[in-house]
Amino acid sequence: MPSEFGLEGHSDADILAHAITDALLGAAALGDIGMHFPDTDPRWKDADSLRFLAHAAGLVRDLGFSIVNVDSTVILETPKLKDYRQPIRESLARTLAIEAERVSVKFKTAEGVGPVGEGRSAEAQAMVTLSR
Ligand code: C5P
Ligand code: MG
Repeated sequence: MPSEFGLEGHSDADILAHAITDALLGAAALGDIGMHFPDTDPRWKDADSLRFLAHAAGLVRDLGFSIVNVDSTVILETPKLKDYRQPIRESLARTLAIEAERVSVKFKTAEGVGPVGEGRSAEAQAMVTLSR
């Protein structure tokens, strides 16, 4: 989406994909994203974070889990993301191999407070439910 600013990161800095990857790994007690994809590894420089997400989904499925639902929030002052909600949901769902109806993506500002509110940073939060 068009924006004056972007995010810096070792990979593509897709914070939403990272948060959901971490939530998937966490729900199965498989550690965290940094263990699986260290930012010191040149293989992950400028990596497409949807690869991390697909890999984490594969790991939890290998343990016999299925992904019931995903809820997530991006906290960002600008740009406004709500017009992109559906394509983002569909992209995540395709990557996770689940229906888009199971993937919730929410957006909010930090109401001008702190580094996120000042537009210097952004955050993403995610929760994943698994069943076995
Ligand atoms: O945080 P705030 O109350 O300003 O959010 C109002 C609405 O703006 C939310 O419902 C959210 O969907 C949308 N929003 C957005 N993109 C952002 C922040 C908020 O689309 N970066
Ligand atoms: Mg508000």
